[in-house]
Amino acid sequence: MRRRLERLGLAALKRLEPERAHGLALAALRHGLGPRAPGGRPVTSPRLGIRLGPLALANPVGIAAGFDKNGEAMAGILAAGPGFLEVGAVTPLPQPGNPRPRLFRLVEDGAAINRFGFNNDGMEALATRLTDARAAGLPAPIGLNLGANKTSEDRAGDYELLIRRLGGLADFLTVNISSPNTERLRDLQGPAALDALLARATAALAGLDAPPPLFLKIAPDLDEPALDAVADAALRHRLAGIIATNTTLSRDGLHSAHAVETGGLSGRPLLTPSTAVLRAVAIRTKSALALVGVGGVASAEDAYAKIRNGASAVQLYTALAYQGLGLAAEIAEGLDRLLTRDGFASVADAVGADLP
Ligand code: FNR
Repeated sequence: MRRRLERLGLAALKRLEPERAHGLALAALRHGLGPRAPGGRPVTSPRLGIRLGPLALANPVGIAAGFDKNGEAMAGILAAGPGFLEVGAVTPLPQPGNPRPRLFRLVEDGAAINRFGFNNDGMEALATRLTDARAAGLPAPIGLNLGANKTSEDRAGDYELLIRRLGGLADFLTVNISSPNTERLRDLQGPAALDALLARATAALAGLDAPPPLFLKIAPDLDEPALDAVADAALRHRLAGIIATNTTLSRDGLHSAHAVETGGLSGRPLLTPSTAVLRAVAIRTKSALALVGVGGVASAEDAYAKIRNGASAVQLYTALAYQGLGLAAEIAEGLDRLLTRDGFASVADAVGADLP
């Protein structure tokens, strides 16, 4: 019933400017008007429970960073049944991001292009919201996607600040150096810069009473040597895992008029390339890192393909704009059926099933 209502709401939202539509959807979620899984808890079953590094997930389907940048609707989102949520990107200082319009629907391609540029309320506002949400109780893990301020003169220092201020409030942290919308941010993915950044980030983490697991989120546009360097750095700095991938700069095979917009492309066209990068990382890191597959997931089959290529969990965003937040729970349920069909007793048994 709620899902049918959600579909009606979606049809109305699709007529609005995309950023406004997303703002209204978040407002509805904040007021408890979103889809609701049984008990308002993550969908689960004996097959669906999975460990993501040290984290225990009730199901492996998470909501990707950027959906709730400011942690405004955490309870409402988790009530829809996903296994986890990544909030952010958050930067130390609040910042407005790029001028509007900065989010475009590519309907014919099942895709989106965004050039938000880390618009967010800053780490102090998020710290307050997280403290309140924790006091009220949250049914699933919350991760924080960390970004650097556009005007920062020491971008690696921004990640240190964020880890110190927010690390104690998060179930996991993600160093995001793969957004295409902050100029030169992705330079931090280069071997020397990445090494220095991760050294500082892990030192900041070690200073916390109870350090949460640290992930690195990478771009889908890395070539083979860059993938070697990223995998090597993640292993050397003993990160918990890698999130593959962020949005792409590629515009291959698009049909929509908005394909010419500047920004990061997400959604259906990203599925195959992001899964290829996930697979390449999985082969390089064997089982030493927990991998999260993100990019173009719109069905249980898509999520299952990421898992079979090495992901212990998946995330999605763009497909939610087309099919609603209730899709996360549907994917988890569909995944359970696919695992049963193929004789896997658990998600963990299927992780990497298609790797050499
Ligand atoms: C994003 N994404 C993103 N990623 C990130 O690490 N930090 C962020 O702040 C954002 N912000 C953001 C805004 C919008 C509007 C979109 C569409 C995407 C990227 C997102 O988390 C994910 O990696 C990609 O969108 C690929 O997944 P989907 O959308 O194809 O499922």
